[in-house]
Amino acid sequence: MISTDRTIRMFLEFFRERGHELVPQESLIPPSGDSVLFTTSGMHPLTPYLLGRPHPLGPRLTNLQRCLRTTDLDEVGDSTHLTVFEMLGSWSLGDYDGPRSLRWGCELLRDGFGIDPGRMHVTIFGGDEQVGPDDESWRTWEELGLPVEPTTEENWWSHEPTGLCGPDSEIFVWTGPGMPQGTPTTDDRWVEVWNHVMMRYVRHSDGSLEPLRRPSVDTGLGLERLVRILQDRPSVFDIDIFQPWLTTLPRLWGPLDESSMRLLSDHLRSCIVVLGDRIVPSPNGGGYVLRRLIRRVLTTLWRDEPTRTLSDLPIDLIEGTLGHFRQSRPPREVRTVLLDEERRFGRLLERGWQVLSRPRFTGPLRDDDYRYLHETHGLPRDLVMYLRVGHGDPTGNVVR
Ligand code: SER
Repeated sequence: MISTDRTIRMFLEFFRERGHELVPQESLIPPSGDSVLFTTSGMHPLTPYLLGRPHPLGPRLTNLQRCLRTTDLDEVGDSTHLTVFEMLGSWSLGDYDGPRSLRWGCELLRDGFGIDPGRMHVTIFGGDEQVGPDDESWRTWEELGLPVEPTTEENWWSHEPTGLCGPDSEIFVWTGPGMPQGTPTTDDRWVEVWNHVMMRYVRHSDGSLEPLRRPSVDTGLGLERLVRILQDRPSVFDIDIFQPWLTTLPRLWGPLDESSMRLLSDHLRSCIVVLGDRIVPSPNGGGYVLRRLIRRVLTTLWRDEPTRTLSDLPIDLIEGTLGHFRQSRPPREVRTVLLDEERRFGRLLERGWQVLSRPRFTGPLRDDDYRYLHETHGLPRDLVMYLRVGHGDPTGNVVR
């Protein structure tokens, strides 16, 4: 069985053998001036170089980057989505072209990792009113003998509404039983593992596209998704790096249903990594996302058993997670912040119950009641609803 660590090494070695330099991993805090809260992909810290600045390490790069995406938070718990995940990447900054990148992608998956091409499907950009179909990629995949599905929106990559963008081509692997069926857009057992973006344009605020003087290729491969396929597991939560969570959590907190188990492993692991990058819980920004992740963990734990506590979390689980992500923050510091947040949230719930037991709040609440509870008592609407109904999710969706 190929381990996660070996998968990382194989990917990076493959590209290093083809002249790519290893870019050091950045933290989850995006470059200054960036409008998003966290690093969301391997290309993210490379934006100035994709826009044309020469990179000090040269035009061929590769790396492994930790990423955090809150847009997928509602999907956490299915078989493919994680809040914090790792992305393997390769870049040609104005060097080789898209077809070269696609050929290497196919070679590595097929000959390096041994994935049967009969279980692969690709998608390409089929064209829209501004840009024609990506014929070059289409031809390349046909020459490689892989089935191709053209789409429009799904195969146009952009980080934000304006800025770098271009057509992309995604490689999917069949994860269902038996012979592959349907296509990536018609059957979700096709799991996307690797995206190759032909970074060719900058979009301006009026919607117009300006071709880049030096087009690049940006690829990102979801590490845990690939490992799930290589280890032939039913979900990303069943791969080797999740084993310590699967064995430890039920020992600490008794039998947990599958969705609680997945949410707890995903969110606790994410909290540790975010704290490992020295982000602190706060009422706004990235710190607020962290606070909400911790609160989702706590409400999941307390739903069935209010005496469960994060003090139970063994230090070696924190240490192992920080070690995997190569983070140097002492595990005890991470644990201290988690426990402080647990106490703070416990006190907030206590105060909430007291305030809400007043006669004024026993009937239906109006908007000005919610405003008063929030402004005077620090009780946001979703928390009030949680306290009144006695169950549910007081932290809602982290993305607002
Ligand atoms: N930018 C692409 C992605 O995030 C590939 O790195 O999927």
